[in-house]
Amino acid sequence: MSQSMDWKAVDLTLPPPAQEPERQYYFLARCREQVERLREENGRQPTACVTTFGCQMNARDSEKLLGILGQAGFLLTEEENADFVLFNTCTVRDNANQRIYGRLGELNGYKRRNPKMKIALCGCMMQEPAVIEKLQKSYPFVDLVFGTHNLYKFAELLCACYESEGMLIDIWKDTDQIVEELPTERKYPFKSGINIMFGCNNFCSYCIVPYVRGRERSRKPEDILREIQALAEDGVVEVMLLGQNVNSYGKNLDKPVSFAELLREVEKIPGIQRIRFMTSHPKDLSPELIQTIKESDKICRHLHLPLQSGSTRILEKMNRRYTREQYLELAQRIRREIPDIAITTDIIVGFPGETQEDLEETIQMVRQVQFDNAFTFIYSRRTGTPAASMEDQVPPQQVKAGFDRLLKVVQETAKAQAAKYQGRVMEALIEEINEASPGMVTGRLSNNTIVHLPGGPDMVGKLFPVLLDECHGFYYTGHRVP
Ligand code: SAH
Ligand code: SF4
Ligand code: F3S
Repeated sequence: MSQSMDWKAVDLTLPPPAQEPERQYYFLARCREQVERLREENGRQPTACVTTFGCQMNARDSEKLLGILGQAGFLLTEEENADFVLFNTCTVRDNANQRIYGRLGELNGYKRRNPKMKIALCGCMMQEPAVIEKLQKSYPFVDLVFGTHNLYKFAELLCACYESEGMLIDIWKDTDQIVEELPTERKYPFKSGINIMFGCNNFCSYCIVPYVRGRERSRKPEDILREIQALAEDGVVEVMLLGQNVNSYGKNLDKPVSFAELLREVEKIPGIQRIRFMTSHPKDLSPELIQTIKESDKICRHLHLPLQSGSTRILEKMNRRYTREQYLELAQRIRREIPDIAITTDIIVGFPGETQEDLEETIQMVRQVQFDNAFTFIYSRRTGTPAASMEDQVPPQQVKAGFDRLLKVVQETAKAQAAKYQGRVMEALIEEINEASPGMVTGRLSNNTIVHLPGGPDMVGKLFPVLLDECHGFYYTGHRVP
């Protein structure tokens, strides 16, 4: 719809349509006029930059935001001294928030030199009332603030921002809307994320995501499949299905569909060669899903299965709804059924009440499962979550010591797992030319491991069999074989 849009057909003398996405296309046409005016005033095409913080979900949202900005007539750039700068924020841990405040100070410096510059903020952090208060008080140079639930109205908000003075704030508490068919601007021509669901209903006791992303909503399978089909026709070979808990996909649809069923439908789409997904909650991972991965030629041999803790006592306090034994049994079953699969995980250290023994259990679990990689996080107290008001928050020095010990074990198992494939031929999707070493390209194996090999720009976006010559800790060097 966006690429072949006939802008003259949008009649701006009429009032805006009530229906979505038509309404947004109407405002986009108005944005185009504003950007054109700006171009005439400045004597150059106005630039826009979107900086993304946080997870894959935010990365995909940013592609939608860039899609709107591109269609509005901005020249897209990664330079933050652009005419329109938007930070798509994350609030999962406090350090993410602190980074935003620091970077806002820098943006203010640019704005002093370019007073017509507009600064906008959106994403998860904006769903917190305390953040909005702080912005109003201490960051008055911000022009536009919106949240996660009204992101689809970005064209309308952008338009309003250029037609008004002062800080424009529009935050919704929740929504049941899912608006399809808005323009997007993909980062990679050959791979793309696709939202299959929004929000989360799990309420893990440490986590702010359910509060800032709202209740779980699944997109209809036909909408997802149509989007992937269009992507495949546009040259995409790898898709990443995105949701906070993909294993509960489709349960609340009028016609319920399981995640495994959705995967089997995606598998049928011609042109799609690789399918990834993120994230799997262990409590909902079905035997049907394991079987589906096993039988598939396209589903990648990589499962991200957040553990969070190896102690049943802590898991219970975290409201994860599985035990240490259940996780271990699941991981072992997956390894048994799909031997080449990489299992990666997330672990939190320093959850309230975590003792040395609890951490030992986590470390032991890392050894038992032999994770291919693990993202380890220091527990961050998030206002409004049940864990924030739990007693016995762990002192920082103790957390740091435990974190470092865990990290060492994680690195050991990751290294041992990566080394397993030396001398094997595996298929790699070439993702980019290697800027640092000319004549080299970088690819990704099905199990998510990176490989560097000799090659040129014509290889990017295609799959090649690669002999994995040497393992260098977490990545390989190799060469293409016939
Ligand atoms: N939906 C995904 C995770 C989304 S958040 C899942 O359930 O697995 C990504 C990771 O951030 C989580 O897996 C968790 O390890 C970490 N995380 C979330 N809240 C956190 C907090 N308050 N402190 C530290 N880490 C946190
Ligand atoms: Fe947060 Fe748990 Fe939902 Fe993941 S499943 S987003 S950790 S509440
Ligand atoms: Fe962060 Fe929001 Fe993702 S809080 S991790 S950007 S869902």
